[in-house]
Amino acid sequence: MVKKNACIFISGKGSNLKNLIGRSRDYNFPISVKLVVSDKRKALGILYAKKNSIPFLLINTKSRNYENKLLEYLKKYKISLICLAGYMKILSKKFLRDYGKKVINIHPSLLPKFKGLNTFYKVLKNKEKKTGCTVHYVDEKLDNGKIISQRSFYIDSTDNEEILKNKTQKLEYLAFPESIIKIFRKN
Ligand code: GAR
Repeated sequence: MVKKNACIFISGKGSNLKNLIGRSRDYNFPISVKLVVSDKRKALGILYAKKNSIPFLLINTKSRNYENKLLEYLKKYKISLICLAGYMKILSKKFLRDYGKKVINIHPSLLPKFKGLNTFYKVLKNKEKKTGCTVHYVDEKLDNGKIISQRSFYIDSTDNEEILKNKTQKLEYLAFPESIIKIFRKN
């Protein structure tokens, strides 16, 4: 199988990055992770890029031209899929248009419910029966765009924010890879 080159954007722990790197070793998985981008120097996920000898780029989102620099790197590494895996910044409409290829995001709720931050707090406060995660195409709005796949579970009365986070992340490690398989199977 000819794999597509993918770039994973992170801001933190990088457990989804780790999972995607692992999955991409599978001969039948449609992507190969060729570049990691972080907007946080201290993002733990950078270690996974280093450990796996994957080039990584640290971006300064406060600098005016950072999106142009990003576009140059994406071109250099022939990236045809961007996966936002805990990347906590919004990409501009111009960037998305200029890049012109697929950009997907994972979010720890059943979108369109609970966009933005403090998801698990909101889920509990709203007394939801179910929660889960969503993988969707990215547009210029926060946690918006066409849904690719969702995974869900029923909330136990003893679940707190930490437990919900752990349960949700376990599902993310399934939903992200299966969404990637799905989008490349379609085309
Ligand atoms: C993930 O749970 C992801 O859904 C969330 O950040 C976490 C990153 O974890 N993303 C968002 O909230 C985006 N709105 P990781 O760094 O361990 O992969």
